[in-house]
Amino acid sequence: MKGKKCRVAVFASGTGTNLQALIDASMNDDYMAKIELVVSDKDGIMAIDRAKKHGIDYRVIPYSNEDDGKLTAKQTINVLKEHKIDLIVLAGYMRILHSDLIKSYNGKIINIHPSLIPLYCGKGFYGDRVHRTVLEDKCEYSGVTIHFVDEGVDTGDVIYQQRVKIDDGETVESLKAKIHKLEHMSLVKVVDEEARKLL
Ligand code: GRF
Repeated sequence: MKGKKCRVAVFASGTGTNLQALIDASMNDDYMAKIELVVSDKDGIMAIDRAKKHGIDYRVIPYSNEDDGKLTAKQTINVLKEHKIDLIVLAGYMRILHSDLIKSYNGKIINIHPSLIPLYCGKGFYGDRVHRTVLEDKCEYSGVTIHFVDEGVDTGDVIYQQRVKIDDGETVESLKAKIHKLEHMSLVKVVDEEARKLL
């Protein structure tokens, strides 16, 4: 349908630079995804400031241990339905999604991870630890992976990967910056492609 765009919710727990890349891209008329909602498990983070600045609706849904997160999942599903969300993008969201949520949006949840999955992923591999371990292991390459979310941690089908060369004298900071830049470009591209498939 002309003018129709895929309605996207971005889940974030931190600075939200990937969210910002998506917001910037979606300002282009040809971009097929529209960021309708930002969901976070905590308040006072930059990702929420970005949502506010751009007039994007946001919800802080703190994780509750009750029923192993079943209640949190229910609240989240309700908010997603309210906003008629078609696609969920996890971009630095630090919680594992409950299976009820995954089942409700099967094949419509994607995650971005700053390494070449299956390397340096899974429980405990987030933030600087990913890059530090890559450097300790003297890898020649690292990179970015975007994948569908299933009930495991970083185990869903890979949609897109791109590698970066590790230079002599590379540090955690320099590698992180290089990968972050690549993440932004990769996520913008993949979200547009997935949005087109869902329309
Ligand atoms: C990114 O490195 C992403 O791969 C990981 O969390 C980080 C989020 O960064 N899952 P930002 O908040 O989008 O800047």
